[in-house]
Amino acid sequence: MAPFQQKTAVITGAGQGIGFEIARQLALGGATVILNDLEPALARSAAEAVKREGGVGYAFPGDASDVGFIREMVDFAAEKTGAIHVAIANAGITLFGPFLDFQPESLRKVMDLNLGGSFFLAQAAARQMVRQETGGSILLMSSVTGHLAHNNLVAYGMTKAALEMMARGLVAELSPHSIRINALAPGATLTERTLEDRDYRQTWSAITPLGKPATVNDIAQAALFLVSDVAGHITGQTLVVDGGWTVMGVQPGGG
Ligand SMILES: NC(=O)c1ccc[n+]([C@@H]2O[C@H](COP(=O)([O-])OP(=O)(O)OC[C@H]3O[C@@H](n4cnc5c(N)ncnc54)[C@H](O)[C@@H]3O)[C@@H](O)[C@H]2O)c1
Repeated sequence: MAPFQQKTAVITGAGQGIGFEIARQLALGGATVILNDLEPALARSAAEAVKREGGVGYAFPGDASDVGFIREMVDFAAEKTGAIHVAIANAGITLFGPFLDFQPESLRKVMDLNLGGSFFLAQAAARQMVRQETGGSILLMSSVTGHLAHNNLVAYGMTKAALEMMARGLVAELSPHSIRINALAPGATLTERTLEDRDYRQTWSAITPLGKPATVNDIAQAALFLVSDVAGHITGQTLVVDGGWTVMGVQPGGG
């Protein structure tokens, strides 16, 4: 039987990149997927792509940093399919900027989506899972920048480190309800966004011990493992998927 048959999964920021690939693979595994994206056209084309491959997907466009919207999305998923089993807080914004010039508005944006959006998706999904009495699995999307310093990325890195503590901290309150919560920390990954930097592949190939950045498939495979029953006794953990980068820690540009 397909591993996610009769399961419903909500994924934020699933219009493209890592989130889309996770949603696509969950759908191929039998899940009904709710694909959120801030860009309505991206959410819709992602859901269409899932359907073209024989999956069941619903687009639910909107801002994953808006608590009211998050609650609507979770209610929609539960009403449409009867229950929610998997919630993936994937949407995150990467705002580069030197610390000495970083503006309050930029910090607020990063905190509201990366932290607030993830916190309240986890909360809304967990409330629903408790009501259903089914248990479930929540995945928070961290980053290697939550482990190692990266130039001009301190605000982003702070939020990612905090997400990993969120996963640890919630073990106490969610385990009694059979809800697992983990984090995934990708290293450099080839996506539509990162490939806008024409040097990205070459830069990260040179400094990644395995000689290449991750593909979205590398990250999706790890995500599927963590939210599947195969990982049924794993909670409060972070899985780093970075081709060995954090072990060696060579910075882009040397050092
Ligand atoms: N790509 C990488 O190298 C990399 C590395 C480590 C961690 N990550 C993390 O993985 C996650 C996905 O990364 P990616 O590079 O695939 O993402 P991305 O930047 O390509 O964004 C994916 C989607 O999120 C949507 N989005 C942006 N703001 C949103 C909002 N407020 N509400 C809903 N959707 C929104 C975008 O429209 C986009 O379609 C992020 O949390 C990111 O921080 C990515």
